[in-house]
Amino acid sequence: MQKNVLILDFGSQYTQLIARRVRELNIYCEIVPFNKIPDDISSFKAVILSGSPFSVRGEDAPHPDLSKIRGKLPILAVCYGAQYFAHFHGGKVEASETREYGRANLSVIKDGETLFDGIMENSQVWMSHSDTIKELPANSVRIASTTDVLNAAYRIEGEQTYGIQFHPEVYHSTDGKQLLENFLVKIADVAQTWTPGKFVDLTVSELKEKIGDDKVVLGLSGGVDSSVAAVLLHKAIGKNLYCIFVNNGLLRKGEFESVLDQYKDMGLNVKGVDASARFLDALSGVSDPEEKRKAIGNAFIEVFDDEAHKIKDVTWLAQGTIYPDVIESVSVNGGPSATIKSHHNVGGLPDFMKLKIVEPLKMLFKDEVRRVGAEMGIDDELLGRHPFPGPGLAIRILGDITAEKVRILQEVDHIFIQGLRDWMLYDKVWQAGAILLPVSSVGVMGDERTYEKVVALRAVESTDGMTADWVNLPYEFLQKTSNTIINRVKGVNRVVYDISSKPPATIEWE
Ligand code: XMP
Repeated sequence: MQKNVLILDFGSQYTQLIARRVRELNIYCEIVPFNKIPDDISSFKAVILSGSPFSVRGEDAPHPDLSKIRGKLPILAVCYGAQYFAHFHGGKVEASETREYGRANLSVIKDGETLFDGIMENSQVWMSHSDTIKELPANSVRIASTTDVLNAAYRIEGEQTYGIQFHPEVYHSTDGKQLLENFLVKIADVAQTWTPGKFVDLTVSELKEKIGDDKVVLGLSGGVDSSVAAVLLHKAIGKNLYCIFVNNGLLRKGEFESVLDQYKDMGLNVKGVDASARFLDALSGVSDPEEKRKAIGNAFIEVFDDEAHKIKDVTWLAQGTIYPDVIESVSVNGGPSATIKSHHNVGGLPDFMKLKIVEPLKMLFKDEVRRVGAEMGIDDELLGRHPFPGPGLAIRILGDITAEKVRILQEVDHIFIQGLRDWMLYDKVWQAGAILLPVSSVGVMGDERTYEKVVALRAVESTDGMTADWVNLPYEFLQKTSNTIINRVKGVNRVVYDISSKPPATIEWE
């Protein structure tokens, strides 16, 4: 892979955002913890230092030796990075007298500075720091200020080292992407050649070389990541990729059949395994949410292991792991810690977990996975599918689970989701679903008194599922959906709409 840009992580909450912005410029980059600068930096053309929750003045703050890169590669030091050079190289950093969080505007920009090409004075930038640079590092010139922050940006003379106190990576810095482009393209001369097409070509040839004639097994979930991983591997090794799609009986109505057909149409070598009864059995009498998750996880491992054993001489397990899952994060309390989910070949694991692991998407962000999928011709409908939890409807049936409850919820969910599609609302919503509540309520149908189930509908807007807000769906749509559900789904006589944000609520009810 073309390495190009190295991002040194000092533990900022925004480090991943820096990488995403850089990738949006069609430039490939990798994040490494601040104390793991690669020995060989010859494949890199620029370095970005992230912010940090630490103060450079703190004793336990990251103080790496940057001599390997300083003066050798162009450096853009963001926030903590900018303070780092000031503190250790002839300047002065002190606690800010005023809080410097949120919006600010550039008030002065020095003429002729390439870093600010195309960026006007008054441009909004995002600040998030409690220390401030009182004196610049030796041999520096100030190149921008804001009303409150005199040393908002500097350049060290005689080298391509820049320090900026604000965060160009957050959306609120309106010209942040322009600044990153100025640094990477104009100053560091990095080529903007990282495209989905290029990724597909490179990855397919790498996979061919790595896997050769070996056999690979992969569990498909119907979701975007596993589907894109499968298509990439299929391009590389064809029928030697064995896909297994397990029906746990907790998918959406008709989804197992329709997605299986879709996979077959895509030419994948896929086996559908209907293990609904086995999962329902494992869930019998279980009402605690975490117990449900455990029961489903264990049942999946058993089913997958059984199926993987039926494939002769398989040596690889492919997974749809993506970049946010593998980035080593720098912990705030004491040194960088590896939070990588690893699959060590230790005893006690099912046999399939002792296979060699291949993860073709592990350097991609979610939006890049979608772009790669589109590049390979995967259907928009599959790529645009809402996230759906692994335990499926089990965590949307509050309390214990029975086949009848699954049937009721599948019907309700289907009416809701199909309605969103019909009303062109599906793509405006990040995730949606129905929840079967463990209460019955009184109703009246004709002259009869009813005592039936209550369902809740939930639709949220979000970018990553970490925070979310309920969607203001049109009243007419809610009215129509509620009517259809109550009229068509036997056993339900009341529909409510969840208007809670996350936090403090969560997206799922369990
Ligand atoms: P919460 O409910 O925590 O959900 O706000 C955030 C996102 O995670 C999904 N979710 C899960 N996904 N297994 C999964 O694969 C789970 O056990 C699980 N629990 C929640 C949820 O659907 C939402 O997208």
